Amino acid sequence: MSKLEKFLQNTKDSLPHKNVQMFCKDNMQTGTAIDFGCGAGRDTVFLIKNGWNVISVDKENTKTLIEQNLTDEEIKHFKFIQSKFEDCKIEKNDLFVANFSIPFCKKEYFEQTWNKIVDSIKENRILYRKFLWI
Ligand SMILES: C[S@@+](CC[C@H](N)C(=O)[O-])C[C@H]1O[C@@H](n2cnc3c(N)ncnc32)[C@H](O)[C@@H]1O
Repeated sequence: MSKLEKFLQNTKDSLPHKNVQMFCKDNMQTGTAIDFGCGAGRDTVFLIKNGWNVISVDKENTKTLIEQNLTDEEIKHFKFIQSKFEDCKIEKNDLFVANFSIPFCKKEYFEQTWNKIVDSIKENRILYRKFLWI
C-alpha cells in the first residue's frame, strides 16, 4: 500500500479540519464549495452535511470512498472531478477549501494553479487552506 493509499484509508472517517468546522459554525450562508485535493473527503462530507453543494477535485479517484459517507439525498449535492490541479477548470465558487493539498502542486504549475484558484472565488467569498501540518 502506498503512503497516499494509507493516508486515504486512515482519513476516510476523520473529522473535518478545524478551519472548516469553525467556518460552518460562524457562517449560516451556504452555496457552492470546491474541495481541492479532497482526498477521502473529510471536508467534503462535512460541508455537504452542513448544506453546501461541493465539487471535489483530486487526481486519485476517491469518489466511491466519499460517497460511502453520504446518503442518497446528500450525493445529489456532490460532484467529483478526477483531475490534476493544473488540468482542471475550476468553477466559480463561494468557498474554496484546500487543506494539505496545495503543496503537492508541482512548482512549474503553481503560479497558473494559484491564479485559477483566485479567479474562481466570487467577490467577497472565502479561501480556506491549511498548507501542511503548520
Ligand atoms: C495529504 S492529502 C489531503 C487530502 C484532504 N484534503 C485531507 O485533508 O484529508 C493530498 C491530496 O491531494 C491530492 N493531490 C496531490 N497532488 C495532486 C495534483 N497534482 N492534482 C490533484 N490532486 C492532487 C492527493 O491525491 C491527495 O488526495
